[in-house]
Amino acid sequence: MFEGKVSLTGIKPTGTPHLGNLLGAIMPVVKMSNLAKKTYVFVADLHALNAVKDIKAIKENSYEVAATYLAMGINMEKTVLFRQSDIPEVPQLSSLLMNVTPKGLMNRAHAYKAAVDKNTEKGEDPDAGINMGLYTYPILMAADILLYKSDVVPVGQDQKQHVEFARDIAGSFNYIYGDILTVPEPVIPPDAASVPGLDGRKMSKSYNNYIPIFTDEKNLKKLIMRIITDSKTPEEPKDPDDSTIFQIYRAFASDAEIAELRAKFEKGGMGYGEAKQILFEKVNACLKEPREKYNHLISHPKEIDEILAAGAAEARVEAKKTLQSVLSAMLG
Ligand code: ADP
Ligand code: TRP
Repeated sequence: MFEGKVSLTGIKPTGTPHLGNLLGAIMPVVKMSNLAKKTYVFVADLHALNAVKDIKAIKENSYEVAATYLAMGINMEKTVLFRQSDIPEVPQLSSLLMNVTPKGLMNRAHAYKAAVDKNTEKGEDPDAGINMGLYTYPILMAADILLYKSDVVPVGQDQKQHVEFARDIAGSFNYIYGDILTVPEPVIPPDAASVPGLDGRKMSKSYNNYIPIFTDEKNLKKLIMRIITDSKTPEEPKDPDDSTIFQIYRAFASDAEIAELRAKFEKGGMGYGEAKQILFEKVNACLKEPREKYNHLISHPKEIDEILAAGAAEARVEAKKTLQSVLSAMLG
């Protein structure tokens, strides 16, 4: 699916990356970076601006996102890792694409519609508190995708509509100006199951039920011990598929280990405390080495800056070419 392809993905620096982000978004991209011809991965800081006005938070979270990819072993031989805001061609292309993007398409965007629905429910003006950054978010994302001639865009289900919009926008540009933009394909990683959080709902920053990927060992254990379970006694058989402990475990363990823990759940005789201890040991073993790498990078941000600057320089070569062909197609 990825062989010989140019793949691209962005992640917003809007919080400390958690296990849901790791398993649903980061690891699929790390794995794919070994298969694709070239992988563009960027910190989507411009996309954070419509919601976040805290400069320090965006900066810190940007380092955290970049360090996470590096610590998890993304294949840097074939990956271009950069900061979106280092590419001035992104907002330039975005503003040109506005002219081939129907306003009605933006009216249909999930995030915009959700914000309007929330306002309407509260009896407020439908557009209250909605800025143009949120409204035109999909056009900025189309610019990201189209600038580097991406063939495939691996994203979570929540972002699929945005990639489809990028296809629509590329399609209408090409219809008017000729075959210039590469029409991308969204790819939902098949193993990107939704990871539950401490309270059993989807792990998310918005629910404050998350486990940060690189929290220290002690806190990792404390958080895992806090996972909410039902009140079954140790003797009682338990349904693994209904257990947050098991759902997280299966994302880290081998097939044989998963089968073993499943059997323990189903047989009875294992309390939730013991299951949590098994989960902690597994997650900790998998993250121990990357955590050291991550902590090193976070305390040496200059090293991250250098990598991101080299990435931006490389990404801009392709970005300039695309922008140039778009400009001459539109203006001669
Ligand atoms: P959050 O819900 O914490 O705000 P984001 O919406 O910023 O997370 O998600 C960034 C990426 O991580 C998206 O691609 C999303 O699909 C993925 N992701 C987030 N939470 C989970 C989860 N609980 N399980 C699997 N993937 C997730
Ligand atoms: N909108 C994506 C998110 O909220 C982040 C993103 C920005 C992105 N540009 C992208 C993802 C381009 C894939 C391709 O998670």
